[in-house]
Amino acid sequence: MAHQLLQGKKGIIFGALDENSIAWKVAEKAHEEGAQFVLTNAPVALRLGTINELAEKTGAPLVPADATSIDDINNLLDEAEKHFGKLDFVLHSIGMSPNVRKKRDYTNLNYDWLNKTYDVSAVSFHKIMQSLYKRDMMNEWGSILGLTYIAAQRTFGEYNDMAEAKALLESIARSFGYHYGKKSKVRVNTISQSPTPTTAGTGVGGFNKMLEYGKLMSPLGNATAEECANYCIMMFSDFTKKVTMQNLYHDGGFSNMGVTTELFDVMNFDEEA
Ligand SMILES: NC(=O)c1ccc[n+]([C@@H]2O[C@H](COP(=O)([O-])OP(=O)(O)OC[C@H]3O[C@@H](n4cnc5c(N)ncnc54)[C@H](O)[C@@H]3O)[C@@H](O)[C@H]2O)c1
Repeated sequence: MAHQLLQGKKGIIFGALDENSIAWKVAEKAHEEGAQFVLTNAPVALRLGTINELAEKTGAPLVPADATSIDDINNLLDEAEKHFGKLDFVLHSIGMSPNVRKKRDYTNLNYDWLNKTYDVSAVSFHKIMQSLYKRDMMNEWGSILGLTYIAAQRTFGEYNDMAEAKALLESIARSFGYHYGKKSKVRVNTISQSPTPTTAGTGVGGFNKMLEYGKLMSPLGNATAEECANYCIMMFSDFTKKVTMQNLYHDGGFSNMGVTTELFDVMNFDEEA
């Protein structure tokens, strides 16, 4: 049920690849809630994914941009400015690690690939914000969001160098949140989402086990992509104007659990031992 929470708001949504993508669900919801936005993804994703369908469905201009390229970002912002002038919201829903993709073990990282992981998954967030900031392209009380995972705080063996990338992403959100808040009352936050079956998610080793573990360890169960989209809409709305520089857990309670009875039941330990 739509509430027109984003009526009149304009934005950019990075990272919708296919209908499983979290950004895809955000775009659908933002459209239902009355927003207008530009959709963007890396040129290769435009060729391989189905983002054209989403652009058609939501009436959104589609502009290719590699989020690591300042030239591409500036071209994207030129286009967005042409369509909408200043913006109210931006979603960074981007992640990729060559070390994960090529199954390099964490104790044997390829450092060129590690730099690529950082650039795509974290520094791109800074590049996008720096470009917006220099061009003064965000309206006052605008909202910028990145998506992250709890491996930034706690160690999950299979998450590999994405853990470092997410820690950097969250730190960039805090640091830029300060500068952008002072300059033009723009808020910057990250949402730390449950494991979610998407292309990026399922690329991480042991994904299905993490999904099951999340289910057992979260009193409310894993948060779905659609539920994450609802949270993003709330964070873009005027109902969260003073929330900034936060890492917001959206994980059914997982982040505050130690252990659950449900997990013990599955483990079936011998109480007498
Ligand atoms: N799926 C999960 O389990 C999960 C959990 C927590 C956080 N997240 C985060 O959510 C975000 C979205 O991922 P998703 O799960 O929807 O998967 P997804 O694979 O649908 O989205 C990842 C997107 O990143 C884009 N991308 C990669 N390199 C890029 C580049 N150079 N320039 C521009 N875009 C580029 C891809 O094309 C893709 O659209 C990521 O930051 C991811 O780390 C995912």
